[in-house]
Amino acid sequence: MTEPAFDDAAYCEHIVAITAQWERALTASGSDAAVVPAGVAQMYFQDDQAPTFHPNPHFARFYPEDNCEQSVLVVKPGNRSKLYFHRPASYWYQPPTLPDWAQAAFDVEVHDDEEKLMKSLVADVSGYSRIALVGPAESCDLNLPLEAINPKDLVNRLQFARSKKTDFEVARLREATEMGVRGHIAARDTFREGGSEFDIHMAYLGASRQQESKLPYPNIIALNEHAGVLHYQHYDRTRPDPTRSFLIDAGGRSGGYHSDITRTYSANPGDEFDDLVAALDAKQRDTVAHIEPGLSFVDLQVRMHREVADLLVSFDILRCSVEGAYDRSITDLFFPHGLGHLLGLQTHDVGGHFANEAGDLAEPPQRFPKLRFTRAVEPGYVFTVEPGIYFIPSLLKDLADSDAGRDVNWPKVESLIPCGGIRIEDNVLVTSDGVENLTRPVFEALD
Ligand code: GLY
Ligand code: MN
Ligand code: MN
Repeated sequence: MTEPAFDDAAYCEHIVAITAQWERALTASGSDAAVVPAGVAQMYFQDDQAPTFHPNPHFARFYPEDNCEQSVLVVKPGNRSKLYFHRPASYWYQPPTLPDWAQAAFDVEVHDDEEKLMKSLVADVSGYSRIALVGPAESCDLNLPLEAINPKDLVNRLQFARSKKTDFEVARLREATEMGVRGHIAARDTFREGGSEFDIHMAYLGASRQQESKLPYPNIIALNEHAGVLHYQHYDRTRPDPTRSFLIDAGGRSGGYHSDITRTYSANPGDEFDDLVAALDAKQRDTVAHIEPGLSFVDLQVRMHREVADLLVSFDILRCSVEGAYDRSITDLFFPHGLGHLLGLQTHDVGGHFANEAGDLAEPPQRFPKLRFTRAVEPGYVFTVEPGIYFIPSLLKDLADSDAGRDVNWPKVESLIPCGGIRIEDNVLVTSDGVENLTRPVFEALD
């Protein structure tokens, strides 16, 4: 396995910054040390096969590599953290190699035997009375009382801190973006050359240099009405005839950090669906341009719904006022998911509903229960902006059965149902005085 090429200085700064966050969080939540297991892959039921191992994100934030199954980190305020690195002597699998950057960042013990690793770790933490375990408890049996396993107050603080990215994390997100964009360009070209969903998926994997099991999330590769299934999960081997539309939602993963990118294309440039894609694309760019520190993401969601209302009226899909389309929640049936979510070590990164570091909740408004991000944005936050307009038969039936159904141009809607829908998704970084779109310049540079 090749190691990621890190800038060692940026990684060291990252470790210093996040160690300080952990020390503050441990003190505030009443613990004096933390044991952080990477975890272990869980076998399928009555099987000797397991899905691809995904490390505990709390561990991954310190150790940005996947070769860490059954390793454990001990965070002790005032001391260097200690990595208990598990390197089993196996001839079935390639044992992991301890990276140089890990040796520079942590005190390290390497063990090939799990029991010896745990024995040494237990001796190490025996002087601490208030140890917290942060991670999958079953992978690290320390016989701790239940309240010491993932204590809510500590975990809330750690999750809250993850929304503000360090320079090291932003660099990984940029790499993940570049991988994704390379895949997107190849996928679009394969679509234009007549490929099936499966062909497009394979082209994406090849160009983004990713194996399927390491993707940040399963590729969504949807032709025609499949684009109206928000997380469409199949890859048809034959191309539909006629082909009308193509939606791709696919990302990259670098050092554990995810990008999450969506584009939509018409098969017939210049048709009405193509115009609607271009119009939503323009509205998405306008919406991104409004982002600045202090802006509430709930306000951005509301703004985008008004823009969607404007598009539905101006494309003669709805025959009512823009305000009427928004106020009567008609837009909710065309745009049924949230405008975006935090992004990082998880595609839907944690902490989007926290009002503060103690974990008090900023619940989404009643009208938008699926909105994953309700905070005011701050410099260093990375999140998605992903408006959509879909023609989903089950939701359209609800609309037809309601009073608002009278305001719908049904022949127009019927003509768009076979195109499925549109989503445009970029990843953005809040800066000290505005916003940087991480995705668009990479398309411009590589296309
Ligand atoms: N790819 C999943 C999402 O956009 O949230
Ligand atoms: Mn996505
Ligand atoms: Mn997303």
